[in-house]
Amino acid sequence: LFAGQSEFVKGVVAMSGLPAPDRLEVCFAGRSNVGKSSLINALTGTKGLARASNTPGRTQEINYFTQGPSLYLVDLPGYGYANAPVKVVEKWQKLLKQYLGGRQTLRRAFVLIDSRHGVKAVDDEIMKLLDSSAVTFQCVLTKADKVKAKEREKVLDQVRKALAKHPAAFPEIVLTSSEQGDGIPTLRSIIAHLE
Ligand code: GTP
Ligand code: MG
Repeated sequence: LFAGQSEFVKGVVAMSGLPAPDRLEVCFAGRSNVGKSSLINALTGTKGLARASNTPGRTQEINYFTQGPSLYLVDLPGYGYANAPVKVVEKWQKLLKQYLGGRQTLRRAFVLIDSRHGVKAVDDEIMKLLDSSAVTFQCVLTKADKVKAKEREKVLDQVRKALAKHPAAFPEIVLTSSEQGDGIPTLRSIIAHLE
């Protein structure tokens, strides 16, 4: 369904640069280094489509990718921490908030949470913003390959509790590994059904 149907469209640095709202879109938000770009590569089956790296702050623009004829996948800059100057980071954060709060065609935000770390205060802030903008969001746990089953249950529990406070949260949590492929078909199917 997904493979080979994606192309890079553009990197956006200001709201005025967003593509015309001619397709629905889903976006991938989360702390720096959580695995947003890697997840887009896994979903699209295209290595290197979105640039991933071990340096927090790799994605510095809002990157648009097509998925088939009628959907955009949107890779966002990370929040929380980054190896970049404070002023630059402030600029992305402002853009990120404007985007999450003001994009008409945004159908669902996927909020990525590292399976090892659970929901942090900065994630909760983003979830509040999504609540207030009435953007439905869904949590995706990343790097599932890095945790053992017991730890996974613990983090799932913590995430469930955190989500319960947010009216815009979609209850199903998706556990993924971009390295090993866990959860990727599930997430593809969720996205396909949004169109
Ligand atoms: P920023 O653009 O900096 O906000 O980061 P990002 O959220 O886009 O993260 P990115 O996809 O660049 O991945 C960060 C690091 O985590 C890279 O070194 C990836 O290889 C690694 N990584 C991402 N997903 C997984 C996964 O499922 N399993 C493992 N083991 N590593 C992963
Ligand atoms: Mg990235």
